[in-house]
Amino acid sequence: MDSSFSFPAGFVWGTATAAAQIEGAAALDGRGTSVWDTFAGQPGRTKDGLGPAVACDHYHRYEQDFALMRALGVKHYRFSLSWSRLFPDGDERRNPAGFVFYHRLIDAMLAHGLTPWCTFYHWDMPQALEARGGWRTRESTAAFAAYAQAAVAAFGGRVKHWFTLNEIPAFVIHGHKLGLHAPGAMEPPKVVNQVFHHALLAHGLAVQAVRQHGGPGAKVGLVHNPEITVPFAETPEHIAAARTIFAQTNEHLLAPLFNGGGYPASYLERCGADAPEHTPEDMTLIGQPTDFLGLNVYRGHFVRAGADGRPELLPLPEGFPRAQAAWLHHVPQAMFWGLKFCAELYRVPEFYIAENGVGYHDAPGMPAHLESVHGWDEAARDLSGEILDLHRCQYLRTYLQSLHRAIAAGVPVGGYFLWSFMDNFEWADGYVSRFGLVHLNFTTQRRTPKLSAQWYAEVMRRNAVI
Ligand code: NOJ
Repeated sequence: MDSSFSFPAGFVWGTATAAAQIEGAAALDGRGTSVWDTFAGQPGRTKDGLGPAVACDHYHRYEQDFALMRALGVKHYRFSLSWSRLFPDGDERRNPAGFVFYHRLIDAMLAHGLTPWCTFYHWDMPQALEARGGWRTRESTAAFAAYAQAAVAAFGGRVKHWFTLNEIPAFVIHGHKLGLHAPGAMEPPKVVNQVFHHALLAHGLAVQAVRQHGGPGAKVGLVHNPEITVPFAETPEHIAAARTIFAQTNEHLLAPLFNGGGYPASYLERCGADAPEHTPEDMTLIGQPTDFLGLNVYRGHFVRAGADGRPELLPLPEGFPRAQAAWLHHVPQAMFWGLKFCAELYRVPEFYIAENGVGYHDAPGMPAHLESVHGWDEAARDLSGEILDLHRCQYLRTYLQSLHRAIAAGVPVGGYFLWSFMDNFEWADGYVSRFGLVHLNFTTQRRTPKLSAQWYAEVMRRNAVI
């Protein structure tokens, strides 16, 4: 198609999900309890009091879900393995039924023409391992390495694209500092920094597992969610100010992975006595070359060069456009600047947008007993039962235009995964925030593609923003 918003030939278009958010079947076929089962089971932890026990029941409905993906023209699918389905206690004991499930799942993907992009860790550590100290301990990284090796050995013949961990800052900070995500801990800085280091180490060990057992053509990288700064006006001084804050915020993770030399001195100085225990061998493992970096892009923070030239973060005014997922304001430039700053500051061979999407309270289909709690998104409700989520189409269109701009500016981006294929368990937001292209009625498990699904199907078909 002749469009000014055409993407390069061979660009990867996909959709994304994660095990704990869609599978359900939490207590079935030998799966162990995960930290999210435990956390969501505690009063007040999720907005609607609901947890991942059933979710989209994808465990039983994956054939139907993949058939729907195929009907929409989806060719690439990012999903995650549930660690506690494969290793219920986070130790050496395997759950054969878990392996059987993922063999079938991957076979079904391939049968529906979907290329699998598999994430090892999307936040659902086995609870038994958490009880032994979880990410606070080095033992957890060895357990994770054993799990990753077993997974690559089992599935590596058919899975060639691997993501190690999803959003390290999110589960480190929300889960271990602020107590807002599983395991709900509020640890002192020294422990939080150690958890962070162990997560990076787990990444390095997973890269090693793919290199050792992944077979020919296997590729691997991390999925990161950088805090993205955006110049409030695109002039050299404001761009430089935004870049400075971007580097300060993200360098402790991205520099050791991509620039070599371990943790930046500025990070270790900032930590002082709370710096994580780490060895030079750890840092070599963490800095091993990877094939790509996945970026999850949602929000952006405006920055300007202040009167004295110093970078200033600008608060957002009341009324700034945002999604119903309250943390998610609409800053499409985040896509361009996130990629641009990463490419300028770190030696990343290739990027994939591993997630981008938006949460609204799309109606219909909220469980009746929750309707009074959450209300309906009347704007998206249509009496015929269609979900006319024009707000999502608008949001996605602007972010994709910004992605197009980054590619045109020379940033090597290989693909884009939309979060999410279907509405699902949105962690502490329960089922309140819906990110799907496909609407889920969580009472009947009925799947209904929204208008945005039709729109994205056209984007993928034409390889262009429309
Ligand atoms: C990022 C997380 O990886 C994903 O699990 C979550 O649902 C989306 N953000 C939306 O909040």
